Amino acid sequence: EKGGYKHFMAKEIAEQPTVLADTISAYTQEAEIRLPTGEIDFSQTNKLTLIACGTAYYACQVAKYWFEQEARLPVEVDIASEYRYRTPPVSDKSYALFVSQSGETADTLAALRYCQGKAAKILSIVNVPESSIARESDMALPILVGTEIGVASTKAFTGQLVVLASLALKAAMQRGHLDSDALAERIAALRNLPALLNQTLATEGRIEEVAKKISTAQDVLFLGRGSMFPMAMEGALKLKEISYIHAEGYASGELKHGPIALIDKDVPVVILAPADALFEKTISNMQEVMAREGKVVLITDSAGAKVASDGVWETLVMPTVDPFLAPILYALPAQLLSYHTAVAKGTDVDQPRNLAKSVTVE
Ligand code: M6R
Repeated sequence: EKGGYKHFMAKEIAEQPTVLADTISAYTQEAEIRLPTGEIDFSQTNKLTLIACGTAYYACQVAKYWFEQEARLPVEVDIASEYRYRTPPVSDKSYALFVSQSGETADTLAALRYCQGKAAKILSIVNVPESSIARESDMALPILVGTEIGVASTKAFTGQLVVLASLALKAAMQRGHLDSDALAERIAALRNLPALLNQTLATEGRIEEVAKKISTAQDVLFLGRGSMFPMAMEGALKLKEISYIHAEGYASGELKHGPIALIDKDVPVVILAPADALFEKTISNMQEVMAREGKVVLITDSAGAKVASDGVWETLVMPTVDPFLAPILYALPAQLLSYHTAVAKGTDVDQPRNLAKSVTVE
């Protein structure tokens, strides 16, 4: 049941600190990454292929940044419905990893079957251990977040990210790009994440105020750089799914290659920009938006807010987080913005029109 919340989605957003703490403890032991399902040796492969649909696909897109930057492991990411019909070459040294909350998504399962007998290893990340995708993998890694009922994926997405981050750290160690002190620091940051998630949930009232202002918009853009780029796409997907507002996520650097043409005083532009190595670049894109009267919602930390919030429409201040883990934390304001926008519009949050929780047909 909804446990006192108005919607399953609200409950599932609020559960994240608790359920992710469980996932984190299942995947870490003291200062090491320990998979609950046995070993994977990422030093034995030279390519990782990540396949999924929808929100799970955006989790894979975030993971590409992690595996490539931290573990120097080349990653190919694809949407299952494209991958399955492209007849892509599959190296017998590559690992294929399928991400699916339900474990029953038809396209993802078909893509998995295509890789069987071709890839060196078939891995999956699922929330349902008895699912088809789990059963047909060499190893199925559970996200351990409990049943997700809301059609809009929230805690399953962040659970997928926690497991993918753990795998990327493991790969980085095994491939000689992370020493044990650096790993211990990362694990400490991971264990501290639930506290930061709680701090973020405590700002829900502010996010709701901003959502009310967004709820009258026709179109919303989301922008981010680096691992915040897939988070921008995820933010846009969430908003369109439940509020029916047209939304697009773009890489900040792509703005001047097209989408800037859409910007005027009626378009809110949500900018995901923790004060990291790419911050200044993103902020210069933000200024291009403001010069065209776009209404900027800046989501940043206190260091970012200090230098960049002049003249922006709204600033949402997040706790400071290890840049590696920022995508997991920044998922929350994106989820809450969509949720409160949908509530303000009076749409059916848990059962949005035309959508099914599990897409078991093509
Ligand atoms: O069960 P799966 O993770 O395979 O589902 C994939 C997508 O259908 C799913 O993430 C969908 O995009 C959600 N409605 C997103 O909120």
